[in-house]
Amino acid sequence: MLTKRFFNYIYEVFFSFLLVVHWLFKFITSLFYKFFDRIIILSFIVFVCFSSLFSLQVVEKNADPEEVLLSFLRRKVGLTGTKYGCGGGGCGACTVMVSTYDRNQRTVVHYTVIACLQPIVTLHGAAVVTVEGIGSTKTKLHPVQERIAKAHGSQCGFCTPGMVMSMYTLLRNKPQPTMEDIREALGGNLCRCTGYRPIIDGFKTFCESEVGVDQNIILMSTIRMLPCELFPMDCFLPLDPSQDLIFPPELMIMEKKVSGDALYFQGERVNLVAPFKLSHLLELKAEHPSAPLIVGNTTIGPKMLLKGVYHPLVIYAGRISELKAVTWGETGLTVGAACSLSTLQKEVEKVVVETEEEKTRGYRALLQTLRCLAGKQIRNMAVGSLFDKQGHPAAENICNVVFLCLSSDGMRSIPLDEKLFADFGKTVLRPEEVLLSIDIPYTKPWEFVAAYRQAQRREFAFSFLNAGMKVAIKEGTDVVESLSIYYGGVGPTLVKPKLTCQQLVSRSWGEDLLSEGCRLLKEDVDVSPSIHGGRAEFRKTLAISFFFKFYMQVVLEMRERVGKLRIMSTLWDLVSEAQPSADLVGRPSMHQSAFQQATGEAKYYDDLPLVQGELFIFMVTSTRAHAKIINIDPSEALKMPGMVTFVSAGDVPGANCRLWFNNPEELFAEEEVVCVGQIIGAVVAESREQARRAAKEVHVTYHDLQPVFFTIEDAIRHESYFEPKRKVERGDVDEALKTAEHILEDEIYMGGQEHFYMETQGVIAVPKGEHEEMDLFVATQHAAFTQELVGMALGVDSNKITCHVKRLGGGFGGKVMKIASLSAITAVAAHKTGRAVRCCLERGDDMLITSGRHPFLGKYKVGYNNDGTIVAADITYYSNGGSTLDESIMDKAVLHMDNGYKIPNLRGRGVVCKTYLPSYTAFRGFGGPQGLMVMESVLHEVAVRCGLPAEKVRDINMYREEQSYTHHKQPFNPTDMVRCWDECLERANYQDRLRAVQLFNSSNRWKKRGISAVNMLVICLVQGAALVNIYKDGSVLVTHGGTEMGQGINTKAIQIASRVLKVPVSSIFTKETCTGNVPNAAPSAASFGTDAVGMAVKDACEKLMRRLQPLMEKNPQNTWKQWVNEAFFQKTSLSATGFFMGPPTDVDWEKGEGQAYYYFTFGACCSEVEIDCLTGDHKNIRTDIVMDVGKSINPALDIGQVEGGFVQGVGLYTIEELQFSPDGVLMTRGPSQYKVPALCDVPAELNVHLLANAENPHAIYLSKGIGEPPVFFGSTIFFAIKAAIAAARTERGLGDAFPLSSPATAEKIRMACQDEFTKMASPPTDGAMAPWCLDV
Ligand SMILES: Cc1cc2nc3c(=O)[nH]c(=O)nc-3n(C[C@H](O)[C@H](O)[C@H](O)COP(=O)(O)OP(=O)(O)OC[C@H]3O[C@@H](n4cnc5c(N)ncnc54)[C@H](O)[C@@H]3O)c2cc1C
Ligand code: FES
Ligand code: FES
Repeated sequence: MLTKRFFNYIYEVFFSFLLVVHWLFKFITSLFYKFFDRIIILSFIVFVCFSSLFSLQVVEKNADPEEVLLSFLRRKVGLTGTKYGCGGGGCGACTVMVSTYDRNQRTVVHYTVIACLQPIVTLHGAAVVTVEGIGSTKTKLHPVQERIAKAHGSQCGFCTPGMVMSMYTLLRNKPQPTMEDIREALGGNLCRCTGYRPIIDGFKTFCESEVGVDQNIILMSTIRMLPCELFPMDCFLPLDPSQDLIFPPELMIMEKKVSGDALYFQGERVNLVAPFKLSHLLELKAEHPSAPLIVGNTTIGPKMLLKGVYHPLVIYAGRISELKAVTWGETGLTVGAACSLSTLQKEVEKVVVETEEEKTRGYRALLQTLRCLAGKQIRNMAVGSLFDKQGHPAAENICNVVFLCLSSDGMRSIPLDEKLFADFGKTVLRPEEVLLSIDIPYTKPWEFVAAYRQAQRREFAFSFLNAGMKVAIKEGTDVVESLSIYYGGVGPTLVKPKLTCQQLVSRSWGEDLLSEGCRLLKEDVDVSPSIHGGRAEFRKTLAISFFFKFYMQVVLEMRERVGKLRIMSTLWDLVSEAQPSADLVGRPSMHQSAFQQATGEAKYYDDLPLVQGELFIFMVTSTRAHAKIINIDPSEALKMPGMVTFVSAGDVPGANCRLWFNNPEELFAEEEVVCVGQIIGAVVAESREQARRAAKEVHVTYHDLQPVFFTIEDAIRHESYFEPKRKVERGDVDEALKTAEHILEDEIYMGGQEHFYMETQGVIAVPKGEHEEMDLFVATQHAAFTQELVGMALGVDSNKITCHVKRLGGGFGGKVMKIASLSAITAVAAHKTGRAVRCCLERGDDMLITSGRHPFLGKYKVGYNNDGTIVAADITYYSNGGSTLDESIMDKAVLHMDNGYKIPNLRGRGVVCKTYLPSYTAFRGFGGPQGLMVMESVLHEVAVRCGLPAEKVRDINMYREEQSYTHHKQPFNPTDMVRCWDECLERANYQDRLRAVQLFNSSNRWKKRGISAVNMLVICLVQGAALVNIYKDGSVLVTHGGTEMGQGINTKAIQIASRVLKVPVSSIFTKETCTGNVPNAAPSAASFGTDAVGMAVKDACEKLMRRLQPLMEKNPQNTWKQWVNEAFFQKTSLSATGFFMGPPTDVDWEKGEGQAYYYFTFGACCSEVEIDCLTGDHKNIRTDIVMDVGKSINPALDIGQVEGGFVQGVGLYTIEELQFSPDGVLMTRGPSQYKVPALCDVPAELNVHLLANAENPHAIYLSKGIGEPPVFFGSTIFFAIKAAIAAARTERGLGDAFPLSSPATAEKIRMACQDEFTKMASPPTDGAMAPWCLDV
C-alpha cells in the first residue's frame, strides 16, 4: 500500500515536472515556431489541438455528441486545413493524428483517425494534431510537407493535408519506415489528381532502405537516377524526431487522475454517455437496451450523419479498460471488444513472426483480410467487424472464434458461426448484452485455415463475397476430420453450406473430394437473384471458386506469394545548356502553391470564413424520374429550427433557366421533373445541419408520367434523341464493305464515370447591399459562364456580378456547367434573404445532381482482310445524354474516331440519346476516351479474328505518310505519332514481354497475363485572355481567365511571364481568377488552358516589354525596379491585357469535313496485367507511356498530368462502375460504393517518357496541351485484361472472341473466364426478377 502511494507520489511529481518542462519548451519553441499554442478546453471534454499560429484557449461549453471533429475543427476552431471529401470515412481527406495516453500500457499512442466520423466527445483527454500543427510557411515546414510539395505530389492539393497527416503519423511511430509501411499508411487516402507516384516519391525519401520487403505487397523502389531529376533530393529538411510535438503533460496527468466517473454529454437532440466501469456499462445497457454502443463510430456514425438515423441516446464504450485488454494465453489470443482493428493487426503481426507457422495459419488468414479491410485510419478507429458497412456478415475469420458476451444476467460464450447472425445486419446478441472479448485460438497442427474476399477494388473496398474455410485433417493422412465453410455475402446472414461440410468429412483431400465439394456447393449455396447488391451469378461462382482455391491451397500447403518491385521513373528532354538558369521554362518547377497546400494554408471556397449573417442552402431534389409536380409543400420544413426560407422557381426574379448553345435546362423544375436528382427547390437555414434536416421535410407530390426509360437501348427503341446528329464519312464505305475479305459486326458498351473531384461543388453568394451587386466565391472552371447565368437568373447585368475563383480541389470538366446552375440558385436565395448564402454539396448529392461522363454504345460493321488491314468501317456512336443536352461531347467522339489509323473508308455517326437520367456533362477527354475506345475495340477484335497480335494490326493500319489527312480531311504529319508508338514498344520491351506472357500463361492455369499497347492521336484547340500589372516596387501580378485546379496553370503562367519580363518567378504572383479582371474568359478545359492562357500572358508581357524597352536601352545598367519606376514617372502604363486566339477551327457538318482543331497530341502506351481467373481480381503489373507534349514548359507538371490522367483512365476502364436502380436512382453515391483508383491500383511499374525532340510550332514555347489525352491510356489495361481472359478461354477450348464491356470489373472478368464453376452458378431467372442495376 505504502509502495503504491509512494509510486503515485513519484508519478505526480514526475508529471508535474513534465508539465513545467512542457510550458518551458512551449515558450522557447514559440520564439522560433509556434507549434504548441492552441489548447481547447471543453466543459466536459478536454483535448488539445495543435496549430502553428494561434495561442488561444478555446472553451467549448456545449460539446454536442452529434458534432464530429471535422466540422468542429473547420467551423469552430477555424482550422480549415482538414478537408471534407466525403463525410463517410471513404477518402481520407479529413485525416488527423490523435494522441492519447494509454493507461493500460502507460504510454502515449499516436494514430490517424477520420475526423468526419470522430465525435468530439470521444476525444476527452486526447491531443489532436492537424496539418496546421506540424508546420507552416510562416514558421517552418515539416519535412513531410516539404517533401510532398517538392516531389510534385500536390496538384489540386485537396487530398494533400490528409496525405501529410497519414505520413506524419507513420513517422511519429516509425521514423524510418519501410515502403510497405508507407503503402499501408496511405492506403486509406485517395487522390484524384496525381496518380500517386509523386506522393510516394516524396515520402519514400524517408525510408532508410528497401529491405524487409513483404513479397505479398507491391512496392516502389527508389527513383531511377536520371541525368536531370524531377526534384532535388539532397536539399530536404532532415527529419528530426526530437523536434516532434510532445504529448501535453496536462493531459497525461488528467488521464492518470481519472476519477472513474462516467462522462455525460447533452446535445441539442442526442445525449451520449461514456461509462468508465464495465458494471456501469451493463447497467446502462439494461436500462437503455435500444441505445447503440459505439467505439469507432464507423458503422453508427455514417448511419446517423448520412442516412438521418436518429438515436436519442448513444453509449460510448471506448473508456472501459476491460474492453480494451489484449491477452495471449495457452490457446491463443483474447482481444477486448473495444480494441481497434489496428491493435488486433499489430498483435497478430507480432505473433506471426514469433510463432511456428502451423500454429498461426488462422492468424495469417486474419492478417490477409485485415490489410484489405478499409484504410488505416478506419482500422485505427473501428473494432472487429461482424458486418461490413453494407450489412453483410464478414465470414473471413470465423473459424473457431468465440465471443464472450456479458449482461447483468451473467456471461455466456457464443461461437462465431452461422447461428450468431439473426438477419441482415443483426446478431443474436440480446439488446442488453455487451460483447466483452473475442477469443481467437491458435490453429492445430493439422488444421488448415484460409480467408477469401473479392471486392471491386483490391483494397479499401467492401467485398462482394467473403469466406472463411477451415479443414482439420486426420494426422498423418489426407482424410478430412472436420470441415467448416462460411460465406458472407450470399444471403442476409452468414451461410454455412451444411451438406457440403458434412458430406466431405472422412473423405480424402483429393480430386474426388474437390469435384464432389463443388457439386455439393452448387446445391448448398443458394444466392437469390434479388440479393441486396445484385451480382447473384458472380457471387455463386465466387463461392465455388473460393472453395477450389482453398482446396489448392491446402494441397500445396503454402500460400501463394507474388510480389513485384515497384519502379516508377520519368524521363524528359533536358533544356538547352544555353538557357539561362533563371529561365524556368522547360524546367520542372514546383506548383506555385504546393507549400500552402501541404500546410493546409491554401484556401478553397469552403475554407473562407463565415460572412456576417451567412445562411446555408440545401437542395431538394426529385425522387421520381418522370413526373408532373402536383404540389410542393415546405410547410413542415419551415417549422424546423433555424429554417429561414424555401426557394423555388417562383422566387427567381429573372430567368429560371440555364442556356447553353440554345439548349435550355431549368434551374428549378417548375411543372415536370425529368430525372431523379433534379433540383425542385432549396431550403435556406441558419446552419448546414438545420438545412439538411429541413430539406427532408419538404414534401413533393407527383403524378408519374410515361414514358420513362434510362438506357441507351431503350432510347433507341423510343427513338429518343437530341439534335443535331453527327456524321463524318471518308471514301465509299458501302462499296468497300463489299470488297472486304471478312465482315465483322459487333458492338461495345462503355459505362460512364463520376468526376469524383475531391472537393465537392459549391459557392458562397454575398450580396453587396447596393446596386444589386453580388460577389460569388465559387468552385468553377468557367467563371464567365457562371457570372452570366447568375446575372440572368437575378435579372441583373453581368457588370454587377463578380465571380472569384482562388483554386479548385479538382475539376476534370465537372465544374463547368452544373456549378453555374447551383450558383444561380444560391444567388437567388441570397437575393431573396438579403444575406450571404453558402452552398456546399455533400458527396452523395454531388454525385446525384451533377452527373459525369457519358455512357457510350458503339455499334460497328467492319470490312477487313486476312492480314488485318481494315478496308472499311461503319460505326454508330450512341451516347446517353440524360434528360437535357448539357455538353454533348459527341462531336469530339466522332472527330476522334480514326485515332491514328488510316481506314480508307470510314463512316462515323453520332447520336445523343435522351433519357430520364441527370444530364451527363463534360469530363476529362470530352468524348475522346469513348470515341477512341470503340476504334481500338475494332482493331482488337479484327486481330483476334485474324489470329494476329493486336499490335501488329494496329501497326499496319496506322497513318504513315508525312502529309496525312484525318477522316474529316484535316491535314497532319503523323511522324511523331509513329515515333511515340515505336519508342513505346521498344522501351516496354514489348516483344520479349509478350513471349514471357505467353510462357507464363502456358504454365499457369488459374492466373493469366495479358499485354496490350495502344496508340493515340488527339487534338487540341485554343483561346485565352490575361491581364498583367507591374507595380512600382517591381512586383508583377498576373491575372488570367484560366482556373487553377491542380494542373499548374498559374505556375506555368508565372514561368512564361518570368521568361518574357526577365524577372525572377519570386517577383511574380497570381492571385485568383476574377471576372472583374479578365472578362469573358473561356473555360479551363479541354487541355487548352495553358496554351490559351500562356499565349495571352506572353502577349501581355510582350506589350509591357515593348513599353519598357526604350528605357532599358537608354539605361541598361539600371535594375528592373528602376526601369519600372522610370516608366511610371514617364506616365507609361504598367498594365496590359493579352489575348490569344488560334486560327479559326471549324467543321462543316453538312460535308463532314474541316479544320476541327489546331494541332495534334500524340502518345502511346503499353500495359501488362495479371488476372485471377477464379475471382476476377486483377493486378496492374507494368505500364510504359511515351507522350508527345511538344517541348514541355514544366516536365514535372506535365508528367503529373500524364500519370494522373492515366490512373483516372485505369478507373474508367476497370473499376469505376456507376449503378442505377431500375427506377433510375443512382445507387453509387459515395466512395463506399463507387471506387476510384487507390494506391493499390497504380501499376507496380509505371514509366512515363516525354517524347524527345518534339516541338509544336502552334503553341506556347513549342509545347502541347496535355491534361486530357492520357486518360485514354487506361484502356491498355482493359485490352490487356481482355487478352488475359482470352488466354484462359482458349485453354478451356472456348473462343477467344467474346464480349466484354467497359469497365472490366472483377465480376466481368470472372464471368468471362468461363469454366465448370461459372456453369454451376445458374443465371438469374430470365425476366422474372427486376435486375439489381442497369447498364444505362
Ligand atoms: C470507409 C469505411 C470502410 C469500411 N470498409 C470495410 C471493409 O472493407 N470490410 C468490412 O468488413 N467492413 C468495413 N467497414 C466497416 C467497419 O469495419 C465497421 O464499421 C467497424 O468494424 C465497426 O466498428 P466501430 O467500432 O467503428 O463500430 P461502431 O459504429 O462504433 O459500432 C458498430 C456496432 O457494433 C455494436 N457494438 C460495438 N461494440 C460492441 C460491444 N462491445 N458489444 C455489443 N455491441 C457492440 C454497436 O452497437 C454498433 O451496432 C468500413 C467502414 C467504413 C466507414
Ligand atoms: S471526408 Fe472524411 S474520409 Fe472523406
Ligand atoms: S492533388 Fe490529390 S486530389 Fe488533387
